[in-house]
Amino acid sequence: MSQIYTTNFSDEQADKFKVEPITWQHNLHESELFSDAALISLIENHPRDYADFCTMNKDVNDMASWRGGDPGDLSGEELLQAVRKGHLWINLRKILNNNPQYQHILPEMTSQLQEKMPGFKPQTMMGGLLISSPTAGVPYHIDRSDVMLWHIRGNKRVWVYPINDKTLPEYEVEEVLLHDHNDDVPYNEQMDDQALVIDMQPGMVATWPLHAPHRVMNQGDLNVSITIEWSPMQTIIQNGAQITNGILRRRFGLNPQIEKQGKINRFIRFAASRVLRKMKLVKAKSAQKEGYQFKVDASNQDGVVEFSKKSQKAA
Ligand SMILES: [Fe+2]
Repeated sequence: MSQIYTTNFSDEQADKFKVEPITWQHNLHESELFSDAALISLIENHPRDYADFCTMNKDVNDMASWRGGDPGDLSGEELLQAVRKGHLWINLRKILNNNPQYQHILPEMTSQLQEKMPGFKPQTMMGGLLISSPTAGVPYHIDRSDVMLWHIRGNKRVWVYPINDKTLPEYEVEEVLLHDHNDDVPYNEQMDDQALVIDMQPGMVATWPLHAPHRVMNQGDLNVSITIEWSPMQTIIQNGAQITNGILRRRFGLNPQIEKQGKINRFIRFAASRVLRKMKLVKAKSAQKEGYQFKVDASNQDGVVEFSKKSQKAA
């Protein structure tokens, strides 16, 4: 059965897509695919290699405080209860790619967007499900790919910032692209004067330009959203060009500016990034294998029991 997901995506929004932050409506929140029963089954059955159970300090701007936890052998119902009353964030990665019941969503979403935007041609597209606590949030950061947030349940506030020297110096974008496990970009509250604030309600989609910094705070209830991470060729080429720019800046003291680089220039730099990667001049910072730092426990405040340093070492 084909379903209509996008309900008011206008020509004007199509023109602004990827150029400035926009929102539109969808109807996925009306589907039984995201009921409590469905969420419980997904949390319980989604392969654990593709599931993150995280918590974070209450100061939403403390990116370094994000840590992964062990869901143990709790049932899906217990884990959902822990999220509902605690301070947790679950990401079921690639659920729209891998779960047969949800696999129809990405191609249908794509063909609907292509009706208004024939140029919408993702080279890669991943869809995950975020289930997060009433107090959870995501600190100021950027994503490497283009993103869309299809909001399904609860209320969350999203701050989206323009890209300029005050909010995100080009050096910082390169820093993220050059290191696979670093999404952290410097934030201060004065930047909020420049932010567009979007109050997400069930049935809203939001998207913004590639690399636009953003942060998120849930607004007091359980939140469920789909995140789409996708990259058209234009993004793959831009990211490659910015990797080359980053190396030229750091190794040779040059000051390249992506905005001044046209299509051909970007493509040459993208090709160069492939060579530099082979030469191992682009290094992935190895992910710190810290292991689980807490276990999920619905009976505990915040749904979290921290491991002591001693028990971490023993684990
Ligand atoms: Fe993000």
